[in-house]
Amino acid sequence: MATGGEAIPIIGGTGALGYGLALRWARAGRAVVIGSRSAERAAEAARRLSELAPDSEIEGLANHDAAKQGPIVLLTVPFRAQSENLNNLREALEPGQLLVDCTVPLAAAVSGKATRSLGVWQGSAAQQAQEMVPDGVTVIAALHTISAPTLADGGAKLDEDVLLCGDRKADKARVARLVEEIAGLRAVNAGPLEMARIVEQLTPMLISINARYKAHAGIRIQGLPAADHWPT
Ligand SMILES: NC(=O)c1ccc[n+]([C@@H]2O[C@H](COP(=O)([O-])OP(=O)(O)OC[C@H]3O[C@@H](n4cnc5c(N)ncnc54)[C@H](OP(=O)(O)O)[C@@H]3O)[C@@H](O)[C@H]2O)c1
Repeated sequence: MATGGEAIPIIGGTGALGYGLALRWARAGRAVVIGSRSAERAAEAARRLSELAPDSEIEGLANHDAAKQGPIVLLTVPFRAQSENLNNLREALEPGQLLVDCTVPLAAAVSGKATRSLGVWQGSAAQQAQEMVPDGVTVIAALHTISAPTLADGGAKLDEDVLLCGDRKADKARVARLVEEIAGLRAVNAGPLEMARIVEQLTPMLISINARYKAHAGIRIQGLPAADHWPT
């Protein structure tokens, strides 16, 4: 499949969630840039992905260089590394870019349980990210409830919602379009960025449910208008 549109940089794209998203977007025909703290690890992940999505355009770069490759940048790193990674991106991110933060503040970040979450002073990991990015960069919180193993299993069918939180509808609409390029994902406008404090808490609950049912279940919001689920 020929690639089209702007490239999607994924900071932490060597990890479980970023890699799975990269695979799905690459197979949907999008150019993807895997970011890593190590350019070598990024290149290696890009090489492995290229084997799974042979006709795609996949590059691996150090995070700093990756972040400059597209207008919508994904951040898929563990909570304990979120501030370190954002500090390192201060000189790379530019006004007008959107940063899609997928971080979940799991207690596992401090050797606690993955079924518990940590309090974040700003209210949520996404709000912490908004405080840390350069002026003019806007954070959207998304993709907290999608299972990385399901994404990475190229044969697995997705059929679930992605809750988006952000302060401007137009920004959320851009991210919604990107999310919905992945077959089986529907984007739902969950409200302003401060709503991320609730959405981020769904992940430890899903981890608990999925451990009990030995599943990779996600979230589905029922009762939305079918044709116009994205209010403007
Ligand atoms: N896994 C899931 O199913 C899932 C689902 C929804 C949301 N999330 C959230 O998405 C984020 C990423 O999850 P994940 O499972 O993909 O995590 P992961 O595999 O443990 O890590 C992702 C990447 O983060 C990078 N990273 C940057 N700084 C790091 C540091 N100091 N220590 C360790 N890694 C560092 C690593 O890339 P380099 O070493 O190459 O830089 C690593 O490959 C987390 O906040 C998680 O809660 C995960």
